[in-house]
Amino acid sequence: MCGIIGYIGRGQAAPVMLDGLKRLEYRGYDSSGMAVVGESGISVCKTEGKISRLDEKTDGGKTLVGFCGIGHTRWATHGAPSDINSHPHLSCDGRFAVVHNGIIENHAELRAMLETHGYAFKSETDSEVAAQLLQYLFDGDVKSTIRALIERIKGSYAFGIIFSGAPDRLYAVRKDNPLVIGLGNGENYIASDVAAALAHTHEFVILGDGEIAEITADETHYYSTDGKQIDKEPYTVDWDITRAEKGGYPHFMLKEIYDQPKALTDTVRPRIHEDEIDLDGITFSREYLDGLSGVDIVGCGSAYHAGIVGKQFIEKHCRIRVDCTLASEYIYKNPITGKDRLTVIISQSGETADSLAALRLAKKLGSRTLAVVNVVQSAIAREADDVLYTRAGPEIAVATTKGYTTQVAALYLIGLKFAITRGTITKKRYSALLSALSDLPDKVEEQLKETPVANAHTYAEAFSNQHCVFFIGRGADYAASLEGALKLKEISYVHAEAYAAGELKHGTISLVEKGTLTIAIATQSELYDKTESNVRSVSSRGGTVLAIASRENSKVRAFADGLLTIPDCDDDMSPVLTAVVLQLFAYYVAFKRGCDIDKPRNLAKSVTVE
Ligand code: G6P
Repeated sequence: MCGIIGYIGRGQAAPVMLDGLKRLEYRGYDSSGMAVVGESGISVCKTEGKISRLDEKTDGGKTLVGFCGIGHTRWATHGAPSDINSHPHLSCDGRFAVVHNGIIENHAELRAMLETHGYAFKSETDSEVAAQLLQYLFDGDVKSTIRALIERIKGSYAFGIIFSGAPDRLYAVRKDNPLVIGLGNGENYIASDVAAALAHTHEFVILGDGEIAEITADETHYYSTDGKQIDKEPYTVDWDITRAEKGGYPHFMLKEIYDQPKALTDTVRPRIHEDEIDLDGITFSREYLDGLSGVDIVGCGSAYHAGIVGKQFIEKHCRIRVDCTLASEYIYKNPITGKDRLTVIISQSGETADSLAALRLAKKLGSRTLAVVNVVQSAIAREADDVLYTRAGPEIAVATTKGYTTQVAALYLIGLKFAITRGTITKKRYSALLSALSDLPDKVEEQLKETPVANAHTYAEAFSNQHCVFFIGRGADYAASLEGALKLKEISYVHAEAYAAGELKHGTISLVEKGTLTIAIATQSELYDKTESNVRSVSSRGGTVLAIASRENSKVRAFADGLLTIPDCDDDMSPVLTAVVLQLFAYYVAFKRGCDIDKPRNLAKSVTVE
């Protein structure tokens, strides 16, 4: 979704912002722009398309001269992607420039009011309303004008604002949309995402809802909604900038697939002490767990799929009923929750609007909330009662890989902790699973060794012309197939559907014809024979089958046209290994089809609108 970077300092703002915008590209965008303020006023350059066009148009930022500026990547919501609709937007008098993330819900009403006062709008966006409103409300003091602005606006926003009368000042305000202030030495930043400023600083301040920041090159001042000056504590982001760079890989996605052994190690191992799991000090007493009528897992996209793996694992070992619901459905279904239910919100970014809304609703209804989040200090992490961080490091490719597998690993930790606390698992099985979980990073490492990778590549080449692919599996394999199908469709634009293998015969098999590809996941020993018979029914109708099975149990090979193996592991851990194979498969199919792998069309990394 949209991204914001702003700079104020002693250097030229535009080249710094261009670099920041490039680092925000991963969020998904269709146009970009920058505005700088200097002694002669505000100059703007914006363009539809890639940031490279903005780079060209401004000669690497050189044509926009000034030490203070705001930049934006836009992901169109109100109005088509175009030069005019790109941000920053200028007020009619050219004195205010604004970049905006979020949605101004009452924009039509505000626009109509401003038009009756003679304001001529240039764009179709909701955001331009903010620039015109600043001019309309201006009372000689920018801070109080911003306060008046946010009183009039309904919806969610993160604004970066510059004013021609104050070229030494950058302003920011936010509500329900992420925005951080990056603290440098003689220079400061605003950013929708720490990744945009991480090359310059590791010290950040999070603006609270309705708080206003007034930033100069050397100082930052914060004000509450009622105008009082407030102190804000900075926090340190320990992510290394190189973890947000490609490091020699052709795509972030491939790099992040290869990051997984480390990401899983960091997520799992420091939390296992011999036979004990420490969920960063979060406690769930036996009395509390026994008193639960159930657990709700809520997330979007891959986070939801991780939730399905978690649901199966927790129900199996803890004997607690778990519902897994899409956040966008949870918030409108009038959920039955309260003190007797634990709500687990899963989100890599910690900023997904639907997941955040679900968290707030669950809290309001009295449920305890536990966030499983990757981005430290993100909104979901801050607002949940407890947070267990996945330690995947920065994830840049739109299609999540290490974000997903670390979420699954975190849910395994939670499930095992619950099971041993409730006494629903034998000590022996608990220890075996704990050791399997601890070994998982090594298994993924093994998985990523040459042969399986080469195989995934070969099969992807062979099947890259498919128009439609089915993924089937049972139990944990079904959960894994959901994520496999999503990964393929997200980045390669091949239609892909996941089915519980047993459901195939209830309709979908009518679509299987000669050459139709079905990816059959068969890693669950207890369900192996059942899945095998589903595979046979596909191949006997002329369908092509690519099977995924463990090395030790790969007799499905006899009925399949191809086989991808995963290292031998405890069946409960296989969804992580299967995910890695399917990530590689999707990656190579997309590669072969010439797709924009890290930034698939129409998709955004962090979806901050409902
Ligand atoms: C977007 C991303 C997905 C991600 C989903 C949820 O759709 O493209 O990869 O799974 O959002 O994001 P979250 O940050 O909440 O995990």
